[in-house]
Amino acid sequence: MDIISALVDHHGTLRQLYQKSESDPAVFEEFTRHLVVHHTMEEKYFYDLLEQIAAARHDALEAVNEHHIIELIIKDADGFPRDHENFPIKIEGLGEYTTHHLDEEEAAVFPAARQLFSDEDLNTLGKLFVEAKAKLLGVALPEVPGGISVSAGKGGKTAAYGLGIGSLKK
Ligand SMILES: [Fe+2]
Ligand SMILES: [Fe+2]
Repeated sequence: MDIISALVDHHGTLRQLYQKSESDPAVFEEFTRHLVVHHTMEEKYFYDLLEQIAAARHDALEAVNEHHIIELIIKDADGFPRDHENFPIKIEGLGEYTTHHLDEEEAAVFPAARQLFSDEDLNTLGKLFVEAKAKLLGVALPEVPGGISVSAGKGGKTAAYGLGIGSLKK
């Protein structure tokens, strides 16, 4: 996956997490965790390189400055009581500014950048982004296959677990 496709893919996750956090403030932590990791990786594997190209430098610096503003909004919201009636307003403000930033990247910055990097470089950066994302956000563990459960074990007993507890009590 090239870096631009990888970034747009993660934008999709950010938009979903924002929508979920609007109806469930408990999702706010997950939304901001993804957002901060997104900025870290986007700067390292994309904007740090874009800044070195004169024609793109201004847009790159502007985007990174917007990351700083988003992180200030996160800090402000983070210190706010979760049960306060204004907390959802804080989430809405963060989401609106973030959505504007993502839209601008997708409409202007990314198409221009696609012309500035070679396909090979876009793919190399994309691979690094995907690897870093898995490390920073945690790799999803494989699911236990259906049909495996305690009650379906040896004779339906939870023997080993029961013995363990019993022996502790003696
Ligand atoms: Fe960004
Ligand atoms: Fe982005």
